[in-house]
Amino acid sequence: MLAIIGGTGMAQLACLEVSNRQVIRTPYGEPSGPLTFGRIKDHEVVFLARHGYGHTIPPHVVNYRANLWALHSLSLTRVISVASVGGIRSDLAPGSIVIPHQIIDYTHGRKHTYYDTTDRPVTHIDFTEPYCPLTRERLLQAADRARQAIIDGGVYGATQGPRLETASEIDRLERDGVDMVGMTGMPEAALAKELHLCYATIAVVANHAAGRATSARAIHLKDAHAVLEKAMVGVRSMLEWAVELDAD
Ligand code: HPA
Repeated sequence: MLAIIGGTGMAQLACLEVSNRQVIRTPYGEPSGPLTFGRIKDHEVVFLARHGYGHTIPPHVVNYRANLWALHSLSLTRVISVASVGGIRSDLAPGSIVIPHQIIDYTHGRKHTYYDTTDRPVTHIDFTEPYCPLTRERLLQAADRARQAIIDGGVYGATQGPRLETASEIDRLERDGVDMVGMTGMPEAALAKELHLCYATIAVVANHAAGRATSARAIHLKDAHAVLEKAMVGVRSMLEWAVELDAD
């Protein structure tokens, strides 16, 4: 069974034939909402809306540990996350879909690890490759099958939010090598790795990052929402193929 975490623009998964919802409690508290079980093209899928089904949980308040733990408790192996981002690299225009390959973490104060107790030996997971290469590959194949243009690779910079960035912060991120900026990529990816889940992200560019192109003076979120709504058609089609490929 494949798990899908939906972000802004994907609080529900229209292509999912829902069979049931389940509230799961974890040692880390409650996930963002009940897990939604169902089928896509006759394959079992579980879906979780990262910001809650009414989109009420801001990025820095999301209980990432409970979300990933709940999915892990189902004994599944693969998690695809969908996340909206601001585009920094000039070819990452609004509406682009990117499969990032690297992350830089600028978040702070989030509960970001399961290894924070003193009753076990100190553990440092390897995070050289933050995303699962095989799951990334499946997403690239899914895009190909769906005839959806995507960008293969890019560095995701995870910021704290919930405010958007200043133009100078975006300049700094670019100097760091960041291609796209979002608020939810971390600690989600690291927690998935700690739980040995095969995790990769479909990043959807909702807007030019602050200070860039049409966001030179401000980011207009209304425009960004319209962009996301349109792009999610392609993302859904990719997910349908990803589920099919995963079942093979
Ligand atoms: N910055 C941070 N997170 C985002 C943005 C952005 O410009 N767009 C969508 N998520």
